[in-house]
Amino acid sequence: MFLKENEKSLIGRKNLTITMVEYKVEYEDVGESLEVSDKQTILRGCLRDGIAQEYSCRVGMCLACCAEIIQGSVVQPAAHALTEEEREKYALTCMARPQSELVLRRGVYPPSVELD
Ligand code: FES
Repeated sequence: MFLKENEKSLIGRKNLTITMVEYKVEYEDVGESLEVSDKQTILRGCLRDGIAQEYSCRVGMCLACCAEIIQGSVVQPAAHALTEEEREKYALTCMARPQSELVLRRGVYPPSVELD
């Protein structure tokens, strides 16, 4: 099996190979970045690397971990607190897995969220 430059083989057996791709995730508001695989949530990567990312429920319901997507894309099918339209512009980092290099801005919430 041939792997692309940023792919890693997780399990290599005769008929089963699972690969992951690591992407750079940059928080432009603070100039911090980390590597997160497409099999891992952004929040898990932040916790691993000691990067401050707010969170609370960790199940996609509270919006505490929300970040605006400046560039790139994620998959986040369990981001229940966001509408389909909001999922294009915002990532719930507890649920979101990168699908490309990402630039995020933390602490930015959808306009539908009213903050006091
Ligand atoms: S921590 Fe609650 S939605 Fe992510």
